[in-house]
Amino acid sequence: MQDLLAKFSSQLLTNPYPAYHVIRKLDPVHWSDSWQSWFVSRYEDVASLIKDQRLSVSQVGKFSSRLAGEEPLEEAREQLKVVEGWLSSFLLFTDPPAHTRLRGLISKAFTPRSVELQGPVVQERVDRLLAPFQSGQVVDLMEHLAIPLPVMTIADFLGSRPQDFRELAGWSHDLASFLGNDELTPASVARSLQSLQGMASYFQVLMEERRLEPQDDLMSRLLQAQHEGSTLKESEILSMCILLFGAGHDTTTNLIANGLLALLQHPSEAARLVREPELLERVVEEVLRYDSPSLIAVRSVVEEVEIGGKTLLPGDSVNLCLGAANRDPAQFPEPDRFNILREHSHHIPFGKGIHFCVGSFLARLEARTVFASLLRRWPNSRLARPVERIPTLAFRRLKHLHVELLA
Ligand code: HEM
Repeated sequence: MQDLLAKFSSQLLTNPYPAYHVIRKLDPVHWSDSWQSWFVSRYEDVASLIKDQRLSVSQVGKFSSRLAGEEPLEEAREQLKVVEGWLSSFLLFTDPPAHTRLRGLISKAFTPRSVELQGPVVQERVDRLLAPFQSGQVVDLMEHLAIPLPVMTIADFLGSRPQDFRELAGWSHDLASFLGNDELTPASVARSLQSLQGMASYFQVLMEERRLEPQDDLMSRLLQAQHEGSTLKESEILSMCILLFGAGHDTTTNLIANGLLALLQHPSEAARLVREPELLERVVEEVLRYDSPSLIAVRSVVEEVEIGGKTLLPGDSVNLCLGAANRDPAQFPEPDRFNILREHSHHIPFGKGIHFCVGSFLARLEARTVFASLLRRWPNSRLARPVERIPTLAFRRLKHLHVELLA
């Protein structure tokens, strides 16, 4: 079988959905030599493998082979070990039993109720971000809304000072580039280590402050969290904060931007939402399915797995394509249609099983607040310029979203 990911490499970076349909049809569990990984695209297979404990989420040792540059690389290798040490402590890259204990503790601190209480804060922030604009203006809603809102929200939820969010976002961006890059250089490794250390020192100071004077924020709740007689160690709290900050904003930016774009490209659906605001929750679910913010979940095989007529062997890397699963016609009739009346119960934009997204409630809250606030103010808005995507295989990310705001 030809390497389909190599064949469709440019489409997969910008508009992957037609390519997903072809790959799913020709070879739903596909080995790609160019990716050195399996690519799984059928809903049924993705939904089953994402919670299969014969596959691991551990990333240990995955990065050393990506280091490139002129020898000597000893210093970069040492730094890479420290970065990998940090990553291996992240909940997202931890298997049971360590995962079970950490997840129990974060679930005590990050509850649906604590997110609900953020509702007025998120609304106030959206109002403030939109306040400078008037009907008739063309505004880049990526720059002025979809990027700043999630970063401010997660910073605030954690308990950090609003004026620090830019510095945190910069550090987190370095870490995301490290995780998403196929080729690492000594400079990029050094930068990610510096950024990890910057975030760790930042959250260390915040942790000391909250230990002395607890407040109504996530840091204070993480310090107090207890589950089955266990509490979080200091180093675990720092790892958790770095992960929550990183996982909590780029993905939500994509949800907000993809949703606004889908509504602008489907004016009759947007008009229906204006007439029937009770459809808001369904709209958010349809956006999550139709243009999933995060396209891929990565695993490696620990115990042999038979799936789709293929044998996945221990050590194999597996890319589970959430974006392809959420457009599988076997699960979703007319999958390429943005249909805000669709009944939703089985789409998997936030994963499934023990690693199901911790922040799904927060992301949904932000998306609901943005869609409702924009449509209330400017229900007839139009896309002012064609959009361009940032070429990445793992996320659905816009560069800009220039919109003419019209009341
Ligand atoms: C639309 C926005 C979001 C999307 C699409 C998304 C997507 C995902 C997905 C697919 C996973 C599972 C990954 C896997 O199984 O390998 C996940 C896990 C996770 N997400 Fe999100 N996420 C979003 C927002 C957030 C937010 C706002 C936060 C935090 C405030 C967050 C924190 C996490 C954490 C900590 C995990 C790891 C859970 C575990 O391993 O037990 N995410 N997310």
